[in-house]
Amino acid sequence: MKTSGSSNHVPVSLGDRSYQVLIQPGILPQIGRVFHDIGLSGRVGIVTNPVVNELYGRVVLRALKQAGFSPFLVIIPDGEQAKSMHWLSKILDALVTQRLERQDVVLALGGGVVGDVAGFAASVYLRGVPFVQVPTTLVAQVDSSVGGKTGVNHPIGKNLIGAFYQPRVVVIDPQALQTLPKREWIAGLAEVIKYGMIADQKFFEYLEQHVDGLREQAEDVIPTVIRRCCEIKAEVVGGDERESGRRRILNYGHTVGHALETWGRYRTWIHGEAVGIGMVQEAAIAQFLGMCDKEIVERQRDLIQDVGLPIAMPSMTFMDLWGAMQHDKKVVKGQVNCVVPTTIGEVKVVPLVRQRIRQWFTASQPSRVKRLKHAPQALSRPRLSKKK
Ligand SMILES: NC(=O)c1ccc[n+]([C@@H]2O[C@H](COP(=O)([O-])OP(=O)(O)OC[C@H]3O[C@@H](n4cnc5c(N)ncnc54)[C@H](O)[C@@H]3O)[C@@H](O)[C@H]2O)c1
Ligand SMILES: [Zn+2]
Repeated sequence: MKTSGSSNHVPVSLGDRSYQVLIQPGILPQIGRVFHDIGLSGRVGIVTNPVVNELYGRVVLRALKQAGFSPFLVIIPDGEQAKSMHWLSKILDALVTQRLERQDVVLALGGGVVGDVAGFAASVYLRGVPFVQVPTTLVAQVDSSVGGKTGVNHPIGKNLIGAFYQPRVVVIDPQALQTLPKREWIAGLAEVIKYGMIADQKFFEYLEQHVDGLREQAEDVIPTVIRRCCEIKAEVVGGDERESGRRRILNYGHTVGHALETWGRYRTWIHGEAVGIGMVQEAAIAQFLGMCDKEIVERQRDLIQDVGLPIAMPSMTFMDLWGAMQHDKKVVKGQVNCVVPTTIGEVKVVPLVRQRIRQWFTASQPSRVKRLKHAPQALSRPRLSKKK
């Protein structure tokens, strides 16, 4: 596994928009020093939600005050519903009322929802103010806080309104994950496994060797895992900030995954769970198309299952699946493009031919029906119910 040694700094190289991802257990109380080190000053609008505020709001507020900053809180609701034009507008109202100025800072404290909407607010307020990501979910620490995609949902679809806007720094405290609900933790592991599959065979082997540590959130495993994921994301994004080429490999598992989310009306699975099932199915498609060996498909499926993720497809028809795939943002002129593995650590983007996918679907049907009873329970927290 290639990593940058023991360094806790992962650089994201994007010319004059370059920044560091700092990964350090217990770093939250030192966030004031981090702000000084990169030359930030003034007022800090901390965007967060009631759950995360209760857990980590005080420590961040205190750390910033002690370092001479003037922080204030902007609280938005918990859940995907907060990633909306309405709550974007509420955040902007708060920044205007507080008279945040151009050199001041917007800080996102929370999961991907808070990071996406706060980042978008920072990108449009005064045509852009300094933005800092402090991610507190596994999905946010290994994925959404790095790379500069920000935005909100439209009632018609997810992530339809947004901007590329890079943070000045990403501050990751792996200890903050200790309070994460188990289901959220395990869902995030799907994105972790994705990085091994798309870019790093050694990392995939490391994950296979540390399944217990992954499930149990072992302190010696988690920072290493987060760092390697951030390195891979930084490397991919550094070469293709706006997703015109290589960045598309990050969508592995997401063609089928997004289709399942849409079909399940965002209630059946949380995102990472749908991506885990998506990776299992997309690898099976690759095998069916003769692009990937059975052994690879099975190793990946075993790892996904062993960390505690669901792998079974629900009872849906081919038209359910194919129809839901057409709603993907990445469909170009009706053509569904899908990232498929060729081996562990390497993927390819291929166009999916309807007839071939129907054949694959029909051939794989029996095993799918058998596994149905293991499908996860419906979610208790609110989720977007509209089509993508
Ligand atoms: N911008 C990107 O590149 C990118 C990438 C992936 C996902 N996303 C977006 O991220 C969002 C999903 O992010 P998410 O999975 O982090 O969900 P989330 O932000 O909804 O957080 C999940 C839940 O965990 C709670 N939580 C957060 N931190 C906690 C902690 N430390 N302890 C206890 N509870 C905590 C939250 O309040 C929430 O209830 C989606 O909107 C998705 O579109 C964006
Ligand atoms: Zn994802």
